[in-house]
Amino acid sequence: MARFDGQPILISGAGRGLGEGIAHHLASRGATVGVADINGDSSEAVAAAINAAGFKAFAYEADCGSRADFFELAQLFAADAGPLRAVINNASVLVYEPIEAVTEETLDRMLSAGLKSVFWGVQAFLAHRDETASGNILNYSSPVAYRGRPNTGAYTTIKAGIAGLTKVLAGELGPRGVRVNAIAPGSVPTPATQGFVRAEQYEQRAKNIPLRRNGTVMDVAQAAAFLLSDEASFINGAMLAVDGGIIAAG
Ligand SMILES: NC(=O)c1ccc[n+]([C@@H]2O[C@H](COP(=O)([O-])OP(=O)(O)OC[C@H]3O[C@@H](n4cnc5c(N)ncnc54)[C@H](O)[C@@H]3O)[C@@H](O)[C@H]2O)c1
Repeated sequence: MARFDGQPILISGAGRGLGEGIAHHLASRGATVGVADINGDSSEAVAAAINAAGFKAFAYEADCGSRADFFELAQLFAADAGPLRAVINNASVLVYEPIEAVTEETLDRMLSAGLKSVFWGVQAFLAHRDETASGNILNYSSPVAYRGRPNTGAYTTIKAGIAGLTKVLAGELGPRGVRVNAIAPGSVPTPATQGFVRAEQYEQRAKNIPLRRNGTVMDVAQAAAFLLSDEASFINGAMLAVDGGIIAAG
């Protein structure tokens, strides 16, 4: 099992859902995790639970869509835990709605939390990374990046943008010892998705997924940990589907 002993790993949007799951998982494998969320109470609660379990976490309240906030966050975490070994760009705001319903306010909020935050996360990581060791950037994309699912205009634009940016950065940062990969989780019930997908719809979805079930937070956390580990040391610019075969089967 891959270990991350003492590695400072900063995670955006780790106050709940998949970000909370990867924070617990990496901490249980020895990482010191930075739990950052725009909701400070949730990041405090997640970090407290990790520390209570005997692992190591620091909590931060930050709007990761703000460049200044992300840089301050990375600086604080580097001061608390040491120079960063990885950043996980997981923060997101999910809204599904028809194209005519998309307002400027919603689009700005989604682009800021979901796409601008990836740029700032990368920049802040580079400013505070451990230059003596290999580095890792892990971005959260989605199977929607490959499809044209109705009523997901803003979300799909963001996730497709992340897929493209991941490839660009793999080429740009690989020579500097930083691997950049993306993960595409498929159909995993979390607080965000449960606001849009009812339990019976999840049951229906499972019937169409080749592995005949929805994903779990742990499915995604384990795959993410693999991409961050030395076991994946020659994987750069990949988009790993963790979706039970949704993308493959169309
Ligand atoms: N759950 C799925 O099925 C699924 C599928 C594909 C991709 N994803 C991706 O996985 C990631 C996590 O998804 P989730 O379902 O856990 O979502 P979630 O909404 O449950 O969690 C997202 C977290 O990000 C935080 N956040 C929002 N805006 C922020 C900001 N500006 N700064 C800092 N934190 C902010 C929220 O407070 C929340 O805690 C997202 O990038 C999502 O697009 C999820």
